[in-house]
Amino acid sequence: MPCKDAKLPAGLNPKLQFLQPYPFEKLQRLFEGVAPNPRMKQINLSVGEPKHPTPQFIRDALGLDINGLASYPSAIGCDTLRWTIADWLKRRHHISEINPATQIIATLGSREALFSLAQAVLDGSKHDGLVVCPNPFYQIYEGAALLAGLRPYFINTVPETRFHLDWASVPKDVWRRVQLVFTCSPSNPSGAVMTLDSWRELFALSDRYGFIIAADECYTEIYFDEENPPLGALDAAEKLARTGFPRLVVLGSLSKRSNVPGLRSGFAAGDASIIKEFTRYRTYHGSAMGGAIQAASVAAWQDEVHVRENRRLYSEKFDAFRDIVDPILPLSKPTASFYYWVATPIDDKDFAVLLLQDTNAIVLPGSLLARDAHSTNPGKNFVRIALVPSIAETVDAAQRIRRFVENL
Ligand SMILES: Cc1ncc(COP(=O)(O)O)c(C=O)c1O
Repeated sequence: MPCKDAKLPAGLNPKLQFLQPYPFEKLQRLFEGVAPNPRMKQINLSVGEPKHPTPQFIRDALGLDINGLASYPSAIGCDTLRWTIADWLKRRHHISEINPATQIIATLGSREALFSLAQAVLDGSKHDGLVVCPNPFYQIYEGAALLAGLRPYFINTVPETRFHLDWASVPKDVWRRVQLVFTCSPSNPSGAVMTLDSWRELFALSDRYGFIIAADECYTEIYFDEENPPLGALDAAEKLARTGFPRLVVLGSLSKRSNVPGLRSGFAAGDASIIKEFTRYRTYHGSAMGGAIQAASVAAWQDEVHVRENRRLYSEKFDAFRDIVDPILPLSKPTASFYYWVATPIDDKDFAVLLLQDTNAIVLPGSLLARDAHSTNPGKNFVRIALVPSIAETVDAAQRIRRFVENL
């Protein structure tokens, strides 16, 4: 169905009309005509943009390849970067065998890689092709599927399954049409992490039906138990003795891990035959990472101290927020990610509007992050609260939200 406010000039790609406005555009519209409480400074907890300072050594490393400005970078990233990422994958995800020459390429963060991977691998000429997406979800998955000429098939993540993806809920005749599955583990917005059993099930389905898995792992490094980092897809594949990561591509990112969303740095890693074709696609797509960004990325992937400190800051905020809000609005600290995904006592959009009016704090209504699927919108009556501001602002916001809910 074309998006209802799409006004497409004649002659343009008709698929553009299927793209929905981003959740934040919808939020702006929802807030049109709403007066925020003028006595309070605005605190924005809606956008998932990291706000902790970028470590100085990463900023300094940006200057290390300044001469690189004089030449075009390669489409796949320099050897140093790909070998550094391979070392990181081995350290962090216990991968014993990954070949940086054939199984890893640099990407400009995970967003463009999620999108361009879909364009490279999907076959829009098959009219009934489907792309499986979690719901609620990161909107790029849907746009990537639609622009490639396929349709999304949503799996709702709900409290009953502790926000996990229930692969068994997908009928066989749907699986037969699926070309690509997007996973998001740790999940935005719930923070749920896929288990080894869930990966086993998904890999078996991929073997049976032949679809590719694009594993979005941009939140893997924001977790709260230092002894138990979230399981990654490559790690799961290796544990399950899947040599060569068949039909699996993982998209990793420095944005959240190292507080560098502006650096635009990530990677794609996995099945060599897909990486090869993805590279061919990217040569035309034109998404090579500049040398200065590569130098800073190498420095960032080599260091874990700043990442541990990053986690400590988030953990502190999660605990402080929960101590204040939980007595009045039940919260559970996620395994990973920097969001509280919270059930609201009233409609989620009303909650966000009234909260803005009363307290000048902004949260994202869950229904804007999800689609109606299987007769329901699984984001309805939830809000996503991004704990990205400073600890002082987080505590201030928590107190405002608590007072607000008490007075509802
Ligand atoms: C689930 C998810 N995937 C991917 C991204 C893209 O991140 P980046 O392109 O900065 O790596 C985001 C950003 O917020 C996200 O929430």
